[in-house]
Amino acid sequence: MGILEGKRILVTGVLTDSSIAFSVAKLAQQEGAQVVLTGFGRLSLVERIAKRLPEPPPVIELDVQNTEHLDSLADRVGEHLDGLDGVVHSIGFAPQSCLGGNFLNTSWEDVATALHVSTYSFKSLAVACLPLMKEGGAVVGLDFDASRAWPVYDWMGVAKAGLESCSRYLARDLGKHGIRVNLVAAGPLRTMAAKSIPGFAEFEDSWPEKAPLGWDLNDTLPAARACLALMSDWFPATTGEIVHVDGGVHAVGS
Ligand SMILES: NC(=O)c1ccc[n+]([C@@H]2O[C@H](COP(=O)([O-])OP(=O)(O)OC[C@H]3O[C@@H](n4cnc5c(N)ncnc54)[C@H](O)[C@@H]3O)[C@@H](O)[C@H]2O)c1
Repeated sequence: MGILEGKRILVTGVLTDSSIAFSVAKLAQQEGAQVVLTGFGRLSLVERIAKRLPEPPPVIELDVQNTEHLDSLADRVGEHLDGLDGVVHSIGFAPQSCLGGNFLNTSWEDVATALHVSTYSFKSLAVACLPLMKEGGAVVGLDFDASRAWPVYDWMGVAKAGLESCSRYLARDLGKHGIRVNLVAAGPLRTMAAKSIPGFAEFEDSWPEKAPLGWDLNDTLPAARACLALMSDWFPATTGEIVHVDGGVHAVGS
């Protein structure tokens, strides 16, 4: 029996088959879950990628900046699943000016977009799914360690620091509904989001060397496994936590 046998999971953030969310959706199906995806923008592309999963799941449109999408999300997911046991937030975006060493000059408008999509949406998504989580469940988000200032990550780093804090406040407020809220802080992975960061090579070059366990920039499976573990019944008393899946880099000096 798989560790998500019988669970109903909503996975956001599939864009390509290198997306962390693609790995999560695939593994979740292999471990016995029923999966529904949300897609942003080019839905036909997400639907094409979804066909590469073991069982092609329904794809629902969700732009986390669109209030109508959020307000109708529970009803639209409810057409496919009679409830949710797990929700995966695998969403991030920042305008180019927010990344790559332009920290002192970025406009508030661009920073606001980054925070809306990458930070506030964790709360929006969790609240939008609440009507389907009457029996409790788990919300998991994808983080990049925000405990320090990294090269080039800039305002996305600030957005992730906000995500970490948001996760703790959500854990506080959703605990009474039996909902656990946790983050997986992954090391750098070669996805579309990563490729759009000017200077991402700075991470690529040093991370595998620094990591006590080594680090494969192309392997999203370790992060996906952690997401599954956090949605399973094996972390029943864990919430507001950040699990680092980074080869151990967060734990050692550089
Ligand atoms: N790739 C890495 O190195 C890395 C490391 C740690 C954490 N993360 C985080 O993992 C998550 C997933 O990113 P990924 O690396 O798999 O890249 P990805 O590009 O495959 O996924 C990012 C997703 O965000 C979605 N998105 C962007 N704007 C949106 C909006 N307005 N509404 C809804 N969805 C929107 C995109 O459609 C895409 O599916 C992000 O939160 C990212 O910050 C990535």
